[in-house]
Amino acid sequence: MNAPGDVPIPPGAWLGLLGGGQLGRMFCMAAQSLGYKVAVLDPGNDSPAGSVADQHVHADYLDPAGLARLASLVRAATTEFENVPARALEFLSRRARVSPTAESVAIAQDRMREKTFLAERGFALVPFAILATADDARAADPALAPGILKSARMGYDGKGQLRVHTAAEFEAAYRAMGNVPCVLERFVDLACEVSVVVARTASGSTATWPVAENRHRDGILDLSIAPARIGAELAERARDIAHRIAEALDYRGILCVEMFVTRDGALLVNELAPRPHNSGHYTIDACVTSQFEQQARVMAGLPLGSTRQHEPAVMVNLLGDIWFAGGSSPAREPDWTRVLRHPQAKLHLYGKSEPRRGRKMGHVTCLAPSVDQALDVAREIRRDLGIARAADTMGSTA
Ligand SMILES: Nc1ncnc2c1ncn2[C@@H]1O[C@H](COP(=O)(O)OP(=O)(O)O)[C@@H](O)[C@H]1O
Ligand SMILES: [Mg+2]
Repeated sequence: MNAPGDVPIPPGAWLGLLGGGQLGRMFCMAAQSLGYKVAVLDPGNDSPAGSVADQHVHADYLDPAGLARLASLVRAATTEFENVPARALEFLSRRARVSPTAESVAIAQDRMREKTFLAERGFALVPFAILATADDARAADPALAPGILKSARMGYDGKGQLRVHTAAEFEAAYRAMGNVPCVLERFVDLACEVSVVVARTASGSTATWPVAENRHRDGILDLSIAPARIGAELAERARDIAHRIAEALDYRGILCVEMFVTRDGALLVNELAPRPHNSGHYTIDACVTSQFEQQARVMAGLPLGSTRQHEPAVMVNLLGDIWFAGGSSPAREPDWTRVLRHPQAKLHLYGKSEPRRGRKMGHVTCLAPSVDQALDVAREIRRDLGIARAADTMGSTA
């Protein structure tokens, strides 16, 4: 028997989304192509999701009138960013089916709660300490140096993080962060980083996509390679961890689990994202069902689609920096024909009008019969777009 949350909502109905960024835009497009109407609540003016939504409710996330308007339109609602106030999801859950739940989002949006939740359930993590006060910082285990101090809330793309070289710096770093609750982590020598996106329905069916291998530059995802170049046994373990975390959270929706692979082959959970993830963008072009279509399926109480990958893929992020390539000032629109001339490259632009350095403006997914060939296409495209240091970040690792 279906759980109540699984009674299907047929195409033609309205689905709701909190947030107006690129993840929301790709969700809108996937849901619309299944025949759903999408309403987006977002305070921005010409946001990537708002501009493709069937209706844009222009309001702040905690504006009762805006939330009531969204709730009156839609039968199910979701979020595209983890810093959405949990109260907004709670409000919506009184009138519509909400996935993920406010509770899951509240855990994933707070590094302290996230780490505690995972550690209590026995998942392997990087050695860490919770610093709630300057006294905690002074008393923290010196073995956590060299480390990284991360604010408990609101960090993303490497923001809200400070490197600490010795234990003597713990307290100063804590103060420099603004005396806010933080997590102090030991800096780990990584063989590589991987992630697994998992979908879970209200009735508890789960599915994971193939593991992605992720390269970061300056704390921002630069490149994802799928399938990851790790052994089959390690990949299986990574997918199993993602399944088990989704179960432990009684999760509903799309969840990404970021993990570290250490030099001695251990898998450590880094962090959770309670939504589709940048490292899962390859699923749009390389898998039977994308992470965004799956998000709509879970919301609508439909069965999960197949997560099978039909071709190896390399996803290259397109940051605002490309608009300033070669010292260009003011910003200059890149020559997209240089990407489009590659028959195996799929260009996705998010419709953001203002390019800024470090801002995610789009991505390209390169498809090929092998990962190495897909990397070759990616390398060529990066060179053509003038993305600096392409060669030295794309060699093989694990
Ligand atoms: N303890 C650590 N040891 C080594 N590298 C780390 C550690 N923590 C973070 N990093 C690096 O910084 C990146 C961003 O950190 P993360 O905790 O994932 O924050 P964000 O929310 O910004 O993604 C990671 O993907 C990884 O490359
Ligand atoms: Mg991260």
